[in-house]
Amino acid sequence: MISEKLQQAREYEKEGILRVPSDQRPCFHITAPIGWINDPNGFSTYKGWYHLFYQYHPYSTHWGPMHWGHVRTKDFIKWEQLPAAIAPDMKYDKDGCFSGSAIEMPDGRHMLMYTSVVRKEDEDGVVRDYQQQAVAFGDGINYEKAAANPVITTAMIPEKNDKHDFRDPKIFIEDDTFFCLVGNRGEDGSGELLLYSSTDGLNWKNEGVIDKCNNEYGRMWECPDYFELDGKQILIVSPQEMKGDGNEFHPGNGTVLFIGQKNTNHIFKRESVQTTDFGMDFYAPQTIKTKDGRRVMIGWMQNWETCNVGNEKRMIYGQMSVPRELTIKDGRVCQTPVREIENYYGKKISYEDVSIGNGTICNGIKGRILDLTVELDLEKNPGLANFTVELCKNDKFCTEIILDAVNKSIRFSREKSGVTHDIINVREFKVSPENGKYKLRFIMDKYSIELFVNDGEKTASAMVDTPLEADEIGFSADKMAVANISMAELKFD
Ligand code: FRU
Repeated sequence: MISEKLQQAREYEKEGILRVPSDQRPCFHITAPIGWINDPNGFSTYKGWYHLFYQYHPYSTHWGPMHWGHVRTKDFIKWEQLPAAIAPDMKYDKDGCFSGSAIEMPDGRHMLMYTSVVRKEDEDGVVRDYQQQAVAFGDGINYEKAAANPVITTAMIPEKNDKHDFRDPKIFIEDDTFFCLVGNRGEDGSGELLLYSSTDGLNWKNEGVIDKCNNEYGRMWECPDYFELDGKQILIVSPQEMKGDGNEFHPGNGTVLFIGQKNTNHIFKRESVQTTDFGMDFYAPQTIKTKDGRRVMIGWMQNWETCNVGNEKRMIYGQMSVPRELTIKDGRVCQTPVREIENYYGKKISYEDVSIGNGTICNGIKGRILDLTVELDLEKNPGLANFTVELCKNDKFCTEIILDAVNKSIRFSREKSGVTHDIINVREFKVSPENGKYKLRFIMDKYSIELFVNDGEKTASAMVDTPLEADEIGFSADKMAVANISMAELKFD
């Protein structure tokens, strides 16, 4: 049955999608039909389609009572908008259907698992969230919440753990058993991932803790993802209150990726740790396994510290990253844009060994919806210090990506991109050449820039607020340099 609240959201978005001016909407990155989105949810395969849901507030460009919005795709680039899937319409989720995940059930139903939130005033007069886990079953369009909800309750949290921060279930099936990981806080106040198991998806029991933060990587761990990649087990969490280390991790909300092993007792054993994306805007990613065996990740291309800037001038706010294929190379998880993007290539232009001075412009290399690669061979550039790629540029604006070949770092700056607030506008991170070369690949879609360094060894994603007229691309070097530059326009009709 479709509740009044869900029906209202569906009608609102159906009409709202038509009101959003086309210049506000990116071409191939997922946005809300209208309103706000944050985390990706329920990234799953169902009856031959890849489905993605998302945290969604249709009625404004700010976070609000969370619904789940819904899209599906065959190729990760062209997405079909579907009606909102669930709304906060039950007593146990009246204050929000928070993040979660989805699976195709052995019996053919699509199962969603989410955090149901109720805000209550406690005896001490403080209003707190009570977060429990709930499920809904459906056919890929319409979902029915289970009568047994919430299926993992506050009472099922271990005694000494926090009773409020308990969210973002990651569900998976192993040997006919359902498992789910839920983010929680342990006695020390920092993140713990609780494991639950079930035979039917409705009756769950606690199986312990698979990993915990010990106050090392932030505090609360949000939005876990857990999967196998190239013979390793990967755990991704999005911690709040990270302390920056000036190198791998920045302060605030981060996205931490552990490579490790899973032992038979369902304990995750870490072997290495890395940040997932070095840019200003990347959070709460989820992954999927494709039919041809690839592991594809998508993240929210925003940031909780900066997501209340510029909302008023838009009718949609928040978007997802380009979906990325993951592989392990030299002990790091690398990301490259899904290969399907090449099916959307329009005009291609390339230059070999082009001389770069100050503000060099290459004929035809311009635009805001494109796939651009710059290759710098250090042997051909002895003594090179700084090499700058200038994007979204005109006489007023410019977003700079500066490769410092001496200090082996990249500075990504949107200080001149039109952002009108003193928010985080710069990120710097270490890079190193691969076989004597640096390769910088940029995926751009109107208001976003996603940088993939050396075939995705490091990535940096950021939103820019620059007017679309600023569509020039320039290159500068502190001394004459030579580079290979190639670009494909991305075409969508
Ligand atoms: C992460 C998060 C989740 C929560 C959701 C609420 O960005 O805070 O932990 O479920 O957003 O929208």
